[in-house]
Amino acid sequence: MSIKPIQIGSLTCIPLHPTFGAEIRGIDFSRPVPDSVIKDVIAAQDRFGVTVYRNTGLDDQSHVAFSYQLGQCEMSPRLQGPNQPPRFSEPELFDASNMDVHGNLIKKDTRRWWFTKGAALWHTDSSFNQWRSKYSLLLAHEIPKKGGDTMYADVRTAYNDLPDSKKAEIEDLVVCHSIWYSRKLAAPHEFGNATEYEMSQKPPAYHKLVQTTADGRKTLFIAAHAEYIVGKPKEEGVKLIDELIQHCTQPKYILSMKWNAPGDLVFWDNRCTMHRATPFSDQIERRDMRRTTVLDDSPSSHGVDPATLKL
Ligand SMILES: [Fe+2]
Repeated sequence: MSIKPIQIGSLTCIPLHPTFGAEIRGIDFSRPVPDSVIKDVIAAQDRFGVTVYRNTGLDDQSHVAFSYQLGQCEMSPRLQGPNQPPRFSEPELFDASNMDVHGNLIKKDTRRWWFTKGAALWHTDSSFNQWRSKYSLLLAHEIPKKGGDTMYADVRTAYNDLPDSKKAEIEDLVVCHSIWYSRKLAAPHEFGNATEYEMSQKPPAYHKLVQTTADGRKTLFIAAHAEYIVGKPKEEGVKLIDELIQHCTQPKYILSMKWNAPGDLVFWDNRCTMHRATPFSDQIERRDMRRTTVLDDSPSSHGVDPATLKL
């Protein structure tokens, strides 16, 4: 593939894959990023879907501040449990680490450990919310010596490559997304079970399967959270969802991102990619990753109103 850099305004973009993903150079994160550069950041993001910024020097505060320059941020769910304070003071930061509040490793076979296993499934962040997310910005604070990479799938290209008959078949479908479904997939025993209270706090969300992205290309909005297809028998829907995820995650659509050092930031668009974490020695090494999530502001941001669906 050509790795010829592409210039977008003030930014130099080094492609990482033939169809998506780029490492971006030319930003100084030591001060607030000017609005003119933010425009270039978004243009690069729309084009590449996954953008990588190395050695940013960002900390919790500047990570959150930069995220707000891209849109309204989601408040993060707290996974630590009722008696544990969060690891960070910024409510926007999602804790994607394998550590507790004291910096100790999360022990194997605890409920929290099983919660982290969902990240190994191909997914898009927060698709289980009716107000879905636009971007995720994952910042490395501590990385393991081996493993713990993040893999991305180029869903726009995968959609484009589908046969026309399949595109016509799926054009108007609506998918139900539930966090409890993917939890159960990741932890198919009592650790995947949710309490009635938890389920009432996070009902499922409904989104169109085929969507149009910021650059006008069509894509699929699909993930491990996708539980069933509205109006189809459950088994048939699960089969179609599995088939589409398998199609989108063929090696030719995958970019594997290696984290080099603390300060690396990867910024992706959940509306046109899927991602998953790869294993590492999580009972030996710490992996401290913190994520902000920027809410979608496109016409499809709030999904399909369940009141309009025959459920
Ligand atoms: Fe994720």
